[in-house]
Amino acid sequence: MDKERKLIIAGNWKMNKTVAEALDLVNGLKRDLAQVKEIDIVVCPPFTALSEVSKAILDSNIRLGAQNMSEHNSGAFTGEIAAGMLKEFSVRYVILGHSERRQFQKESDALIAKKAAAAHTASLKPIVCVGELLEEREGGRTEKVIETQLKGSLAGLTKAQMEETIVAYEPVWAIGTGKTATPAQAQEVHAFIRKQLEKLFDEGVARRVRIQYGGSVKASNARELMGQPDVDGALVGGASLEIRSFSDIIKNSI
Ligand code: PGA
Repeated sequence: MDKERKLIIAGNWKMNKTVAEALDLVNGLKRDLAQVKEIDIVVCPPFTALSEVSKAILDSNIRLGAQNMSEHNSGAFTGEIAAGMLKEFSVRYVILGHSERRQFQKESDALIAKKAAAAHTASLKPIVCVGELLEEREGGRTEKVIETQLKGSLAGLTKAQMEETIVAYEPVWAIGTGKTATPAQAQEVHAFIRKQLEKLFDEGVARRVRIQYGGSVKASNARELMGQPDVDGALVGGASLEIRSFSDIIKNSI
């Protein structure tokens, strides 16, 4: 596939996989995807598997991401993990503001912006998630919601930091539901996001930022979604939990 920006496809394993299961999965991916150079491949295991997965993917084309981090560098924050701790395991990416964290941990745009700034300070690339709820889409408020989330979650980033940030458009109604946005629906919002990036930063930044689509991506719909001009990759949940389904998504997107 001939794309303006290099595709980046990340697997968000969420709260799944013991260390042994994580190693089975990542070793299988390593074997199946060894030849892939056209796409940036990222896996985001739970924190407990980062250490072993990190060792397993040394000298491979698979990069490591985390699913969340604290906005603080250290201190009395029981249960939290700092960017510097992730760096110990050669983590390169961190998912921030996933809709499940917005919903269950009540993460706000302002908090996500602080985390994004902390990630950049540690040279981690944030994958900042935005997306509307079903009732927001049905009420015609998709663009307003995305605009607010982008403005709030990316607040304070410099242009250079924004270029090293990935935006993931994940319509909440499509996550884990088997209901994928149509390629046209995804493209429409991705183009809107790029326009907002131009307003918030500039045209050059907007042109270079990679925007992933997330929400029930699978091998059967990946190609068509990735074929949209403003879709630059995918954030994959359920289908990233098995070797075959994740590697087929990648192979079908080349
Ligand atoms: P899904 O999840 O692929 O299972 O819909 C996507 C996500 O939550 O990132």
